[in-house]
Amino acid sequence: MATTIRRAVIPAAGLGSRLLPLTKAIPKEMLPVGDRPVIEHTVRELVASGITDITIVVSGGKNLIQDHFRPNPGLVAQLRADGKTDYADAVEEVAELAHRGHITYLDQHGPYGNGTPVLNAARGVDEPMLVLWPDDVFVAEVPRAQQLIRAYETTHCPVLALMPMDRSDSRRYGVPVVKEDLDDGLLRITGLIEKPEPEAAPSTYAAIGGYVITPGIVDELREQTRRWHEHRTGEIYLTDAINAFASRRAVYGQVIQGRWYDTGNPADYLVAQFAHALAHPDYGPVLRRLVHDIDQPTTGTTT
Ligand code: G1P
Repeated sequence: MATTIRRAVIPAAGLGSRLLPLTKAIPKEMLPVGDRPVIEHTVRELVASGITDITIVVSGGKNLIQDHFRPNPGLVAQLRADGKTDYADAVEEVAELAHRGHITYLDQHGPYGNGTPVLNAARGVDEPMLVLWPDDVFVAEVPRAQQLIRAYETTHCPVLALMPMDRSDSRRYGVPVVKEDLDDGLLRITGLIEKPEPEAAPSTYAAIGGYVITPGIVDELREQTRRWHEHRTGEIYLTDAINAFASRRAVYGQVIQGRWYDTGNPADYLVAQFAHALAHPDYGPVLRRLVHDIDQPTTGTTT
């Protein structure tokens, strides 16, 4: 599938503090959702959307991510020798996915904040890129990444993935200031307010972890970093760069069709896991039975 956007960045250098102690040794990107680690869902989404150049920005202690996507011919040979063809195929398929997405890894370096990995990955790049947080999982007929690419192809401007939210949740998200409601969920926005109080929220949309970033936004990140180096204050945030850009040029939001699961905190992570397991053809019926049984009054026997 040929698209105008070939590149994507997945910032994966975070500590996963909200999920400690689970994430003490396991990167949060490697926690399972359904029968795959969460970052594999993101990579699948990107590859299904025609992305052929994925940069995963990592930090120390994230080797498991590389291990997961790397081919493992020894394991595959052993499984085939044991007649475990399905498992061998499944292991090979993950490496094939990584190959199709041409995954490369970059060590994050620079000031604190979620703009830094984007800037690291954008070095020497002069084309729009997708940025997807690694802790969101989408279930959608048209992948979220593809919905974002379509919006970019319509506007040729930066695009933010949005979902409707309850105003009471505004403290958790960047909330866009909507200037104009266009067709098919496309919104012209004039900026984002980070985590406002409900009464100060400028709309009832949440920025979720997906962006089309243009070279103009990268210039703003560079400018922020230059000022950071000069003054040694503040952190480098994508939202600040988007707001600086939006004060002069057009920025859009795309309301995404689909179901969104955040896996970055314990409660939402459990919901994501449970929802995926329920939708699984083999595990779904088992879980439904379990929930049904748990809801029944105890009879003194278990089967
Ligand atoms: C970041 C963004 C915020 C967005 C959120 C979505 O915040 O700054 O605008 O709503 O991701 O997950 P964080 O959750 O990293 O603080």
